[in-house]
Amino acid sequence: MKSEIKSVTASAPGKIIICGEHFVVHGSYAVAAAIDRRASVTVSSTGEKDSSISSRGLTASLDSKHGLFATTKAIVTRIFADYGKPSNGVRIYISSDIPSGSGLGSSAAVSVATAAALTKFLGHQPEESKICETASCGEKEVHGNPSGIDIHASVSGGMILFNKNSGAKPVPLNRSIQFLVVYSGRQRKTSELVSKVALKKKESPKFFERLTEAANFFSLEVVESVTGGDLPYLGAIMNMMQASLSWIGVSTSSLDALIEAVLTEDSYGAKITGAGGGGSVIVLPKADRADQLLKHVAANYKDSFLCTIPQEGLRWENPQ
Ligand code: PMV
Repeated sequence: MKSEIKSVTASAPGKIIICGEHFVVHGSYAVAAAIDRRASVTVSSTGEKDSSISSRGLTASLDSKHGLFATTKAIVTRIFADYGKPSNGVRIYISSDIPSGSGLGSSAAVSVATAAALTKFLGHQPEESKICETASCGEKEVHGNPSGIDIHASVSGGMILFNKNSGAKPVPLNRSIQFLVVYSGRQRKTSELVSKVALKKKESPKFFERLTEAANFFSLEVVESVTGGDLPYLGAIMNMMQASLSWIGVSTSSLDALIEAVLTEDSYGAKITGAGGGGSVIVLPKADRADQLLKHVAANYKDSFLCTIPQEGLRWENPQ
């Protein structure tokens, strides 16, 4: 094993999915983008034998058997298996401004920052593809059958066109795009929603297949619309995809009411982002109407914010 550095901090962004969530698990393309909410992970030496993980005032030993920090534990264990366990334990400190269970990629951002910071702390140069692979073993811990879209969006930043077989391609943006992100305040588990969708597929295989093909087609159209600056068309695609998500059972009456409330003359479109069942909604505001729309929404949903795409992916926070 190479010599250890004193302390390493890496940070990684959360994400929104603009088109294709759930269908991406079943093979379609999807489009995601990094947002300006980040998780930051610092790795240092404990000076003792044991390793620990801390976040939001809670600390757990790496070897403890309870479920706290299961994702991070899976990643640390994997990295120790790949690169060798250091003689002194490591302290992993996580801070994040991405609400967990909100559909905004909180666990992926923590996984990416942990994989990068610990790899570098152990004296190895983290390559993007290896970070994606290592961070994914944490995601598998949280939701069994992840497509990998959250991890790839967090590592690369910007906007990506993603397919679970062919991976991520950057979408070249020649102008920025602003979305309003509205957190419903309701946490949920991605794994439960992914399982619910798998049941729906079993019930209506033919129609589900058509919707997956539609998600594939419209993801490619999203790329066209953002590169060509056709925001009305992008908004129409978002509304259409919301209807698909509703049919597969991941919307709720309160998300439907929220979407209804944000589809005003100030917006082109709105949809769930991520697994649904709660979590967050994204809205595409019309030009110069974003502040107005935020004001309208923030009265009932205080965790709402405007986010400009593109945003940076994985980055180092202290001089290495
Ligand atoms: O966990 P979330 O809410 O960010 O959703 C991830 C997107 C899904 O398509 C629902 C699952 C996946 O692994 O792609």
